[in-house]
Amino acid sequence: METFVLRNGVQVPAVGFGTWQTPDGATAVDTVKEAIKDGYRHIDTAAAYDNEESVGRGVRESGVDRGELFLTTKAWNGARGYESTLNAFEESCAKLGVDYVDLYLMHWPANAKQFGEDADRINLDTWRAMTELYHTGKVRAIGVCNFLPKHLGPLMDTEIPPMVDQIEFHPGVTWPQTVEFCNAHHIQVEAWSPLGSGRVLNDPRLEKIAAKYGKSVAQLCIRWCLQHDALPLPKSVTPARIAANLDVFDFDISQADMDAIDSMEPFGFSGNHPDEVDF
Ligand code: A2P
Repeated sequence: METFVLRNGVQVPAVGFGTWQTPDGATAVDTVKEAIKDGYRHIDTAAAYDNEESVGRGVRESGVDRGELFLTTKAWNGARGYESTLNAFEESCAKLGVDYVDLYLMHWPANAKQFGEDADRINLDTWRAMTELYHTGKVRAIGVCNFLPKHLGPLMDTEIPPMVDQIEFHPGVTWPQTVEFCNAHHIQVEAWSPLGSGRVLNDPRLEKIAAKYGKSVAQLCIRWCLQHDALPLPKSVTPARIAANLDVFDFDISQADMDAIDSMEPFGFSGNHPDEVDF
């Protein structure tokens, strides 16, 4: 599969398998195995998804060498701060049954609404732990999720700035200033909910464009992410969809159609604004 290359040279398979809202247990085990069988080599989970044990089992039972797989997990908000982030990482590794993780992410920024003027300091404390983990070699790359430029700014002056920012990204929600900031600082954008968690899939404008290419709206959304250099992480528990979501490397969306999608008014937003969330 094509890859994106992080600032430190680490290669990341260009489409990842999302597992947010994938139920723990047999569903997670089986769908992760199914995805790997179909050719996914990049799996994205998080402590907060409550499925790390099953995702880890799926990875181990896939029969594919750990070294060929790219595994991401994330430190939940309750783990903010230096010591608790280090502990959260060990817990995630134990649940996943792995001795290293390819990419470790801070799940949400501490924001000013919750923490006032302490927010930046808290994020920097957490980031110190992420940097420490990187130095130990237990993680191959480090980054953040849901950080806007105002949250990224303070981390840019640290020894190792974030290599990845995973944000909500799909037609209708594009965070242009954040993407511009990331591109300018070689921070790889990853797209969570690239299908708007299903909210954009029935849009007639997208249906019309997708039909031109003989593709589904889901495939159009995934391809649209790739052509924006944003790494899509589509989630599905349906075998036919899991396979179809990887079938996006045999067509190109024209510039006119990219522009048409980009100029759509905001729609399909999850409602989770990084400045407003209080979890
Ligand atoms: P399901 O998991 O039941 O197959 P996102 O990745 O943006 O979070 O979107 C995930 C949602 O989109 C899930 O509800 C998933 O349903 C659905 N979905 C995933 N792939 C497809 C597809 N190819 N066609 C239609 N719906 C899809």
